Amino acid sequence: MCAERPTKSHLYSSGHIRMDETGTHVPVLLDSVVSFFSGGITEGLLVDGTAGAGGHLAAFAEALPKMSLLGVDRDPVAISILRSRFNQDSVVTVRQASYTEIPAIMNEIGFTYASGALFDLGLSSIQLDDSSRGFSYRSDGPLDMRFDGSSGATADELLNRCSEREIADIIYNYGEEGRSRRIAKAIVRERPVHSTQELAKIIRGNVRGNPVKILSRVFQALRIAVNRELEQLDNLLENLHTWTESGARIAFITFHSLEDRKIKLLFRDSGYYSQFSPVWIVADDNERRENPRARSARLRMGIRL
Ligand SMILES: C[S@@+](CC[C@H](N)C(=O)[O-])C[C@H]1O[C@@H](n2cnc3c(N)ncnc32)[C@H](O)[C@@H]1O
Repeated sequence: MCAERPTKSHLYSSGHIRMDETGTHVPVLLDSVVSFFSGGITEGLLVDGTAGAGGHLAAFAEALPKMSLLGVDRDPVAISILRSRFNQDSVVTVRQASYTEIPAIMNEIGFTYASGALFDLGLSSIQLDDSSRGFSYRSDGPLDMRFDGSSGATADELLNRCSEREIADIIYNYGEEGRSRRIAKAIVRERPVHSTQELAKIIRGNVRGNPVKILSRVFQALRIAVNRELEQLDNLLENLHTWTESGARIAFITFHSLEDRKIKLLFRDSGYYSQFSPVWIVADDNERRENPRARSARLRMGIRL
């Protein structure tokens, strides 16, 4: 990725938060996740490394009342939702951090090993639906895309600063979009580009194919690059075995193949886990109908050896 300037974006604004139509982020594959944990662990620490609006965490608090719960998220908006949701709940600790910082937080709250961990990767409806954060090509907003808006380069900065080649690589590597060079060429020719709709217009006007698919891939790629999501995930996967106890249950929900591949290899080949089920679990028809986010969700579960 192109070199960073140490700068605070003028574009970020916390804006208003629009939840999805049910009034909150709907947790995906909730029953499968809860029965996986409650079927094997009852005590100790259960970590939700991507706690979001706390949908999974709230279900854990109900199904596993003897467990201590830790909810971590990078996003300050998620953290304020979690804090108000679990305000009275002494068994739930909430921290704004990356999941790569979990061992240090555990240490601080008195745990060396966790008995279980969930990572529901990607972004939440709260982030997607808030146009001021720039995650969606469906509404207009500044090209920010940072989970933690206080630091790091925005999508705006990447698009206006990186070379054509660097932009093409981001789109190809993180969006798996074959027309990456053409898209990058058009962006560089027409930049500066500051808003989601300016970017969507450039892509629609210059690239043939299904615009919805292309736009989702480009927006996914930029979000992954801005938040260094794959580097964060690699770091987590490298260290997970050091802070999970033997018998710990670990679940990952992924929304694209770049992440899913890494989890598959972790559970199958790293030697630290046994696969709970050799294939991924997907949402049933009912959930897919009711929650569009669930359509691309894949759940993989493993047990620490
Ligand atoms: C799909 S949502 C989780 C939703 C949550 N399970 C619920 O039920 O509300 C993913 C969350 O992961 C957070 N996230 C992404 N990368 C992260 C990281 N490296 N560390 C901590 N949180 C992260 C995002 O900010 C987002 O809130």
